[in-house]
Amino acid sequence: MVRETSFSASQLILPLFVTHGRGVRRPISSLPGHFQLSVDQLIKEAGTLKRLGIPAVLLFGIPHRKDAVGSEAYAASGIVQQAVRALKDKMPELVVITDLCFCEYTDHGHCGVLRKNRGGSDVDNDATLNLIRKTAVVQAEAGADFVAPSGMMDGCVGAIREALDRNGREETGILGYSAKFASVFYGPFREAAGSTPKFGDRKTYQMDPANGREALREILEDVAQGADLVMVKPALAYLDVIARAKPLLGPPLVAYNVSGEYAMVKAAERAGWIENSGRAAFEILTSIRRAGADLIVTYHAIEVAEQLAREDWISS
Ligand code: PBG
Repeated sequence: MVRETSFSASQLILPLFVTHGRGVRRPISSLPGHFQLSVDQLIKEAGTLKRLGIPAVLLFGIPHRKDAVGSEAYAASGIVQQAVRALKDKMPELVVITDLCFCEYTDHGHCGVLRKNRGGSDVDNDATLNLIRKTAVVQAEAGADFVAPSGMMDGCVGAIREALDRNGREETGILGYSAKFASVFYGPFREAAGSTPKFGDRKTYQMDPANGREALREILEDVAQGADLVMVKPALAYLDVIARAKPLLGPPLVAYNVSGEYAMVKAAERAGWIENSGRAAFEILTSIRRAGADLIVTYHAIEVAEQLAREDWISS
């Protein structure tokens, strides 16, 4: 009765990895319980979400082909576009958020196109914005409810809003990855998505973990550019950023409880160092809500929603 913080399945968003083929359910070793799924398997998974009351998915694509400019990201037949069409056809009420980054699609593994001549990991921000515009429109046309630019290019929210509006997609929303830090906790994701940079790192576009005030500025800039939802990522090492951002915001605040945060819990459980990863997940998600997040993207979504459905958390 006096518990201050609660959450329900309706505040959870499940990340999913979609790949080509049929009947594919390829385990991701660093994310126990998660798989690269072909579209037919994805539909099955969506059925589970519906039963548990989880309203939304965040889709990442594993393309069959990579190149320097990530062209599979914006091909009409691209894997994410195929997945969105199938999901919206079978389950129109499911909120589909599409990741809009290029690192899964580029052969060098960076989140944008590289500057010619200079080499290294020097991503060309504005050339990448043009591809982001194109991808946003293609994803919206496939039926995405929100597009989620996770590449941390400056000005991407404004560029996307303008491109969507110009193409009659005023109703497609934008989830800004507003404060995304250059974090070591993305490791398992990069295995899952095959998106580890071949050289260099992402520090020229992702944020310095030391910068809290800069994070607030990034978030407010995304709001000013028209973001419908804003995000802090990762969650656990950045709960202070969530707590400081929340009172400044109109739009809902999303926290991304990232792959490394999930993998640590699972690894500790396997080693017998924590007794129950379900309870750990509850404690973690509660802390993220307590800090001020409205919605949480988490790989724990299904196990936690199953616990909620049994209500066994009340006595935990
Ligand atoms: C792509 C992207 C990453 C994640 C989401 N989108 C990886 C990265 O930036 O290297 C990480 C998600 C996770 O760890 O769960 N830029």
